[in-house]
Formats: sequence, C-alpha cells, structure tokens
Amino acid sequence: MFLTDDEKRMRDGAEGDAVAAAMDLLLRYGAALDADRLCAIRNVAGTMTQPSPVKARLVAEGGWDRAFAVINLDSDRDLTIPPMRVPTCQLQHGFGPDSVDIVPYPRANVDLQSDAEAFYGAHGVQILATCTPYQVGNLPLRGEHCAWMESSAVIYANSVLGARTNCEGVASIGAASLTGRIPCWGNHLDENRFGTHLIAVDGVSVQSFQDWGMLGYFAGTVSGEDRPVVTGSVSRPDLAELKHFGAAAATSGGVELYHIPGITPEAASVAAAFESAVPEPVRYGPAERTAVYETLNEIGTSADVDFVLLGCPHASLDQVRQAAALLDGKRLAAGTELWIMTPRALKVMADRSGYTAVIERAGGRVLADSCPAMSRAAPAGTRVFATDSAKQAHYLPAILGIEAWFGTLEECVAAAVTGRWNGGLR
Ligand code: F3S
Repeated sequence: MFLTDDEKRMRDGAEGDAVAAAMDLLLRYGAALDADRLCAIRNVAGTMTQPSPVKARLVAEGGWDRAFAVINLDSDRDLTIPPMRVPTCQLQHGFGPDSVDIVPYPRANVDLQSDAEAFYGAHGVQILATCTPYQVGNLPLRGEHCAWMESSAVIYANSVLGARTNCEGVASIGAASLTGRIPCWGNHLDENRFGTHLIAVDGVSVQSFQDWGMLGYFAGTVSGEDRPVVTGSVSRPDLAELKHFGAAAATSGGVELYHIPGITPEAASVAAAFESAVPEPVRYGPAERTAVYETLNEIGTSADVDFVLLGCPHASLDQVRQAAALLDGKRLAAGTELWIMTPRALKVMADRSGYTAVIERAGGRVLADSCPAMSRAAPAGTRVFATDSAKQAHYLPAILGIEAWFGTLEECVAAAVTGRWNGGLR
C-alpha cells in the first residue's frame, strides 16, 4: 500500500505506540480489502462509549486505556491513548442517568457509560449521543472522506450529503480517530458510487413520511448491498423523509448509497446516475406498496398496544413538534407508554419550545442518547408496540420478542391514546 511520509512516521512510532498500533490496524484492514492507499479524513463518527460486559471487564483489568487498546485498536499491548487526532463524535449509545426511573436499563450500564463519556470526552470525542449526528451540527461537505458507523447515518452521509464513507466498525473507528486515515476503498472511490438498480415509482404517489419509509424498505429488498436509483412519482422529500427512506433501505438490504436524480447531490439525471447503460427498471406500484406494508405488519396480531415508539432514526425537532401537536390536551391510555427518541441537543430545544411539557402532560416521554433496539430496553411488560419507523418495526420484534404495528404518526398517537391499534394502508 502506498503511504505518505506522514503515514510512515505514524506507522514507525513517531507519534507514540497507540498511533503506531492504529496504523498497524489500518494497514492490516486495508490489505484485506486490497486498498492501495489511505484516505485523509477529519470526520469520525462511531460508538465508543456503549457499555458492554467485555468493556466492563477490560476497564476492571486495566482502565480505559486498556479498553480502548483492545476494543478500538484490536491491540493487546499496554498503550496510553493520546487525544484524537481529528474531530470525532460519539453516536448513539446506552440510556443515560436521566432515564433511570423511566427505562428498565441496568444501572451498572449507566454508570459505566458515564465513566466512558468522561474518558472519551477528555480525549476529544464529542458526545453527540445520537444516530443522527447530521441533525446536530456534524455535516461533512460533499466529497469529504469520513469514517462513520451506524447504517442509517452512513447512508444519509453518502446519499443526502454526498460525503464518502463506508460502514465502519469500532476498531477501524478508533484507528481512524487517532490517525485521520481510513483505507480508501468502497464508497470512497468514484467508480463505486454509480447506481446499480433503477426503481421506477409508478401508479402510486410517494409523498408521506410513511410512504418514503416503505419505498426505502422496497429499495433495500431489491438492491441488497448495491445502489438503488429512484425515479418516478415521488414528492420532493424533506430531511425526515430521506432519513426514514435511508434507514429502511439499510435495514431490508445493506444499502449505503442511493440516488434520487434531481434531489440527491450526485446524480442530476437518471443517465448520470449510472456509469453505463441504464438498467431495466423495477416497478414500485400499488401491489409492491401493499406487499411492503404487509411485511412490516406481519408480526402484529393483537390490537392491544402497550408501547408506542417514535423517533427512529432520532426525531428532528419538527417531528417532536408534530407529535406534541397531536398529543396536546390528550392523555395516554392506562397501561400504554409513548417514547419519542431525539438527539439530546434537540431535546434541549424541545424543552425550551414547550413540546416536551405538552408530551409529558399527556403521559409520554421525550428521551435521548439511545433507543429500545440499541439498548434492548422497552417498558416493562411490553407485548405489543406500534411505531412509525420501518427500521424499528423490522428489528424490535426479533430483539425483544414483541409484536409490532407499523403505521403513520397519527395512527401511532391514536394507539397511544386509545391503547388500541386501528391502522391501515390508505
Ligand atoms: Fe437510531 Fe436506534 Fe433507530 S440507534 S436508527 S433510533 S434503531
């Protein structure tokens, strides 16, 4: 692999053993991928502070330096971790201290995570604590090489922002943050950013948040780990709709990059989205839309809803406002809980805007840092939940062994207020 003089210095230990270990990891990783060079990066987003039994054991054995060496650098050596070399942020992790009386989540995890935040924060990691760093100020520029984790964030960065990142892991993230480098392969390369599948929306009109999520779920099913291009009768989406589309496409498939010509930044036309000939389109019409809806609702049997979850990926401030408007003056059914997940920075704004108070008066909660899927935690006794997120409807039944209903925000709020699911495809 070609290395610059700066990279050779880091590899040879000029910046200390931890940076040398980070370079060693990147060179092994790059060789496995046949990368011929490293990309210079200055934007890393990963999950470093998430509590786990392995992390607790490593910290007990040798402190946080030891945990970072093993988990974030794949090294057994005794290393002293220096400050991050490039801007690095923490994505979602476990629930924090202010959720202790609300969420059934182990106190030991909360405490371990608080210690982790102190260590990583002191080393320059910005504790954004959200799967949507792009909603709270971490916005890489078009063409900027990054190293991000979290599938819904990666697809947003590549497709909506036009930045360039693969879906990294905890070890490559640690090495990237100490070196400002990541192997240059996959989505970093021009030739890997063209579309592979054309999806033509025809006979249905994709306009709502729910429909954007269902179209994303379809796109992931069709494209697998490749790159769908969407054309046809779609509205101009907003941030929340693209967030839902991408999270769903990364859930049903492994999509990391898509194009909507005329809307997303890298493809001005369908022809420009493909490297050579435009493939035959795959139709998304009424039958396909119905099939996606039925798939996302196939786990639901009981109409008695005891938990409603909103904010996956974490809600924008306007999504919190919309939920508050629907809950204003209402009261949740006895035995039913409603949680809205949002970035902590946006929760501060929701508090100041009065939205949190409206939601709490109705009996709901606005929570930050995590989500039920990430922390494997839902209200005690939950058997049936409802959500407006295709991603949570897909994952949570398997993670928690509960039934799921997928619908609109209005249907979810109605379920929280009545305790009954009354949704349907319209
Ligand atoms: Fe975020 Fe949890 Fe959904 S981490 S994308 S709210 S599954």
